[in-house]
Amino acid sequence: MSFHIVEQAQARLNRSELAVPGSNPTFMEKAANSTADVVFLDLEDAVAPDDKVQARKNIIEALNDLDWSGKTVSVRINGLDTHYMYRDVVDVVEQAGHNLDMIMIPKVGTASDVYAIDMMCTQIEDNMKIGKRIGFELIIETALGMQNLTEIAAASKRNESLHFGVADYAASTKARTTVIGGPNKDYAVLTDADDNGNRDVHWGDMWHYPIAKMVVVARANGLRPIDGPFGDFSDSDGYAAQAMRASTLGCEGKWAIHPSQIDQANDLFSPSDEEVSKAKRILEAMEQAKKDGQGAVALDGRLIDIASIRQAEVMVEKAAQIAAN
Ligand code: GLV
Ligand code: MG
Repeated sequence: MSFHIVEQAQARLNRSELAVPGSNPTFMEKAANSTADVVFLDLEDAVAPDDKVQARKNIIEALNDLDWSGKTVSVRINGLDTHYMYRDVVDVVEQAGHNLDMIMIPKVGTASDVYAIDMMCTQIEDNMKIGKRIGFELIIETALGMQNLTEIAAASKRNESLHFGVADYAASTKARTTVIGGPNKDYAVLTDADDNGNRDVHWGDMWHYPIAKMVVVARANGLRPIDGPFGDFSDSDGYAAQAMRASTLGCEGKWAIHPSQIDQANDLFSPSDEEVSKAKRILEAMEQAKKDGQGAVALDGRLIDIASIRQAEVMVEKAAQIAAN
């Protein structure tokens, strides 16, 4: 390990993150009763400009009146380039900060964006005697945000998670797609011809690079990497495939833009019984190896060594976190 110790953000279960428009009080009530690990109440893109002021009032009411116990609740404020943002922060934190766990900041472009909201939250928490520090979820969804990711991730002690906002990211990078998340048949490779002249099309994952980059920067800063929305909520197989790709790379969870995606995300981002029991067997085998003075042994015909202990511990710790919830 490096001499530099990575401080971990507050641990929270974040397998599913349900997006709920602040303009719809009924949806917010349902969200409070849902099985989502995290719910974010939206003031940004799911709310039309004429509804912003009412949505803010609805969210303050929902935070103060509904029972959010057993889950984490967040509010997505408007972007720093809008005049809605300052009132989102001031009104929501002043009037409901005691009941708010996190603020989600969209379209973060630079570390100073995070600094600005940190400064506002610090003043309001101080003035209102809110005895806790509200955390930040940062959506990385612009080319600028992706370019400045390293500084952004380290910009505040409040930072808890990085989220890949695929829709805005596609727009910002001018990617040739209009769907929200998932693969694209135009992002493919054509194999060389076989002996009969046949060629195969192998689809690639056009979101591999940004998600992989986000995972690395999040983990290097002790933050949770979370995959964003998958728009086609009637395609549960497509959602599962995208979620498994993100999970395989190290993401801890994925957005649910529809209630039908919540349980799927909870399930897909939980290690299976089989994975956990295999991890426990690795730990037992390595414990025995240690007693025998060996650094590496064979288990089920494969080599395992001291690095395998760390991999297995990740799995076992995640299972314990879920069980404790
Ligand atoms: C989320 O905000 C996205 O743009 O995908
Ligand atoms: Mg967005």
